[in-house]
Amino acid sequence: MRPDGRVLLNDFSRLWAEIGEDVLHAVAEVGASGHYILGPQVAAFESSLAALAGLPGAVGCGSGLDAIEIGLRALDMPAGAKVLTTPLSAFATTLAIVRAGGIPVFVDVDAQGLLDLDQAQQELARDASIKFMVPVDLYGFPISPGALAAMGERFGVAVVEDCAQAILAEHSAAKVGTAGAGAAFSFYPTKNLGALGDGGAFLAKSPAVIERARVLRDYGQTERYVHARLGLNSRLDELHAAVMSRAQLPRLRAWTERRRQIAQRYLHGLAGSAVQTLPVEDGSAPVWHLFPVLAPLGRREELRGFLAARAVQTGVHYPFVIPSQKALAGVPFACPRKLANAEAFAAREVSLPIHPFLTDGEVDRVIDAVSAWDPGGGKRT
Ligand SMILES: Cc1ncc(COP(=O)(O)O)c(C=O)c1O
Repeated sequence: MRPDGRVLLNDFSRLWAEIGEDVLHAVAEVGASGHYILGPQVAAFESSLAALAGLPGAVGCGSGLDAIEIGLRALDMPAGAKVLTTPLSAFATTLAIVRAGGIPVFVDVDAQGLLDLDQAQQELARDASIKFMVPVDLYGFPISPGALAAMGERFGVAVVEDCAQAILAEHSAAKVGTAGAGAAFSFYPTKNLGALGDGGAFLAKSPAVIERARVLRDYGQTERYVHARLGLNSRLDELHAAVMSRAQLPRLRAWTERRRQIAQRYLHGLAGSAVQTLPVEDGSAPVWHLFPVLAPLGRREELRGFLAARAVQTGVHYPFVIPSQKALAGVPFACPRKLANAEAFAAREVSLPIHPFLTDGEVDRVIDAVSAWDPGGGKRT
């Protein structure tokens, strides 16, 4: 129990209590090494990450946003290319597509909030000019790599999977990110593998694509002062790489296991409550970056207020569908179909606290608080 009695979405004081000493060692090591940019720490972290993700190579970048952009550009996506993607994600997914010169084409999501693969197929069949796709393993739910790979092959579509929320997630024993041409990860501090600042990585199957991503993250330099492309400055720091290698990576499997235990406790405890949990597909092994539930339409803020009054912090992922964002006014994009499910998520989704440092007692307090809420009238207890 925290001194203030609150149950938080993320609890960085507990994170620090667990990893602080390792972090300080890693910082001391990098500080003493005098090597601060693109040195041995980044190289070692990239190798560990590639092994963990089941892909041959990784390129550490400045953020998840950059990793997606770099991935699309490393695949030589032409300017003006249409990119099939989801309307329900962090805005960064779409922003990266636009920054890479692509035109987002949004199709609706399914009952898990993931890109609806049936609709995606229909759209690819209808519009043969779509040759790129950025699906998102939202909330830590894996999109079936088998289904993605089959779709990519059938329609000749290059897939860059946004795995920012889904490191270690698997479907039918296949890892997220392995189905397509490449995968992007984010190490934003709240992520399952989070740095103490910004970071990301792009991983790919093809050594040529990996090499192009390496060039793009470093001003487009192929060798010192030789610039083949207009790249970015998006290099993962030695400090972040060292910290993650020493403090977070060795704990990631145990932390993921704890998220899964908490999710099971919620799924069991919330059955019969007034909120709807999301279905977990057969064969799916999510990593529960978030624990999303759906409130009855029009009652979300009431639920959130009820929980806040019981010291339970909640979030919303995400309150708006991406094509409705003002930043896209004047930006070319397409919305060929209705986004009914995505709109429903945007109106109804509530994220309950889930992180590896929650105690069973705290999870039960959240379950009790949600169970006490009665959208039909008064309290249930
Ligand atoms: C699904 C998704 N894609 C992309 C990003 C962007 O990652 P970053 O914040 O590291 O740029 C995030 C995280 O914010 C995310 O959740």
